[in-house]
Amino acid sequence: MLITLLPVLAVLVSLPWWLPGRIVALRARIFARINGDEGIPVPGDLVGVERFKEVYSHPAAGGRSKGAALSDLFWYWLAPGPEMHQEHLEAGERYDAVARVTRGLLAVPRAEAEELTRRCVARTLGDVRGLVRLRDLMMPLWAEVSYELVFAEPCPRAARDLIVANANDVVTSLKCTGLRHMERRLRLTRYLTGRLTRVRLPLPPGLTPEEQAYYLQGAFFNTAVVQMSEAMAHLLMVLAQHPDVQERARTGDARYLDQVISETLRLYPLFGIAHRITTGAIPLDERNAIPAGSVLCFNYPEFHRAGFDDPGRFDPGRFRADDVHRPAAKELNHIPFGVAANRPCPAWRLAPITMRVAAQEILRRCSLDSSAVHTRSLPNRGPCLLTPLGAARRPRAALAYMRVRDRWEDVWRSLAQLVLGTYMVWDARRQRLCERHFDDRDD
Ligand code: HEM
Repeated sequence: MLITLLPVLAVLVSLPWWLPGRIVALRARIFARINGDEGIPVPGDLVGVERFKEVYSHPAAGGRSKGAALSDLFWYWLAPGPEMHQEHLEAGERYDAVARVTRGLLAVPRAEAEELTRRCVARTLGDVRGLVRLRDLMMPLWAEVSYELVFAEPCPRAARDLIVANANDVVTSLKCTGLRHMERRLRLTRYLTGRLTRVRLPLPPGLTPEEQAYYLQGAFFNTAVVQMSEAMAHLLMVLAQHPDVQERARTGDARYLDQVISETLRLYPLFGIAHRITTGAIPLDERNAIPAGSVLCFNYPEFHRAGFDDPGRFDPGRFRADDVHRPAAKELNHIPFGVAANRPCPAWRLAPITMRVAAQEILRRCSLDSSAVHTRSLPNRGPCLLTPLGAARRPRAALAYMRVRDRWEDVWRSLAQLVLGTYMVWDARRQRLCERHFDDRDD
C-alpha cells in the first residue's frame, strides 16, 4: 500500500519546487492570449538595449493610454477614476495642471522630509517585533507620510485605515492575489471629496470635485503608498538576506545606504514594463521606423541587467561614486524613476531621501532576518523576522518555519493568481474602461 502511494507522495511533497514556476509561465501565456500580442518589446529585435533610452526619450513616444488594449487592464486595476490618474492622462492642459500640483506637493525641503519620515515611523512602527510581512508593515507609514504631504496635518487613524485599505486593494489585485473591492476604494473617494478644501495647495482648476478627489487618490493614496511600501519591502528584504550589508548600513554612513537603495531598485525595479503609444513615427535608420500607433513596452528588469557584470548578484559597490574605474551613474543602465525626457516619476528626489531615513530608523530599532523567496513581484509581501536590537537572537527555528511556510504558500498562491488573474484580465477586456472613455470623448 505504502509503496503504491510513494509516487503520489513524492509529487505532493515536491510541489513547491516545480508547480509555481509552471503556473507563472501558464499565466503569462493566458494573459498574452487574452491581450493579444500588440506590444513591441524594448529591448527586443527592433530596438536593442543601446537605443532603449533614446527611443524612450523620443518626443513621439508620448501616448499614455489611448490606443492600447493594455491600458484597459491598468485602468481596471487603478479604478475608480483611472482617467484622472496622472500616470494615465494624455499630454495636454489637464495633464500639465495635475503634474504641477503633484510637483508642488512633493517639493518638500530635505530636512523637513527627513523629519516627517522620522515622525511617521515613530507613530506607525513603535516597537514592532516578530514575524511580519514587510509590505503590510510599511503601508500605514507611507499612508501617514502621504497624508501629511497633502494636508499638512497629522493623519487621523480612521483616514489611515481608509488609505491602507485602498492601497492594499489596488496592489493585491495588480498582483492577482485578490479581486478588486470597489466599495473599499470608494469609501476613500468619499472621504477625500469632503476634504478638498483642506489640501495645502490649490487643486487643478477646471476639474470637478469628483475629478479632484480621483486625482489625489490616484497619485498620493494609491501610487505613492503602494510604490513606497513595495520599494521599502524590497530594501528591507535585501538587508534581511545580506547580514554584512545590513551591519554596514546600520553602522556606516548614509552614502552606503544610498548605494544599497540604488542597487535594490536596479535588481528589483518597481515597474516590470512601462508602455507608451507612439504619436508619430520614430525613425530607426534610413529605411525603418516604428510607425505611429505602436505600443512600446519598455522592460525595466531587462534593461537593468544589461551592461552589468554578473547582473543577478547584489552588489551596492556598483554605485560607488568614488571609484574612477566605474562609469558615471548617468551612463549606467539604471532608470528606477523612469527617463527624464518622458514623464519621469515626480518623486524621484523625495523617495530615496525618505527611504533612507525610514531604513535608518528601522535599523536603529531591530535586526532583520528572512528565509523567504525574494522576487521582483514580491507576491509573498516580504516575510521577515524583526528582533529588537540587543535582545537575544535565536532566529533559526523561526527562519526554518518561515522557509517551509513560504514555499507552501507559493503553491496555493500561484494557483489563486492563475484563476483570479485570468478572470480579471477577461473582466477588464469586457469592461474596456479606457477604450470606452476615449470613444465617448471622440463622439
Ligand atoms: C521608490 C519609489 C518609487 C519608484 C521606484 C517610482 C517609479 C516610477 C517610475 C519608473 C515612473 C515612470 C513610469 C513610466 O515611464 O511610465 C513613475 C511615474 C510616476 N510616479 Fe513614481 N515611483 C516611486 C514613488 C512615487 C511616489 C512617492 C509618488 C507620489 C506621488 C509617485 C508618483 C508617480 C506618478 C504620478 C507618476 C506618473 C508621472 C507622469 O506620467 O507624469 N511615485 N514612478
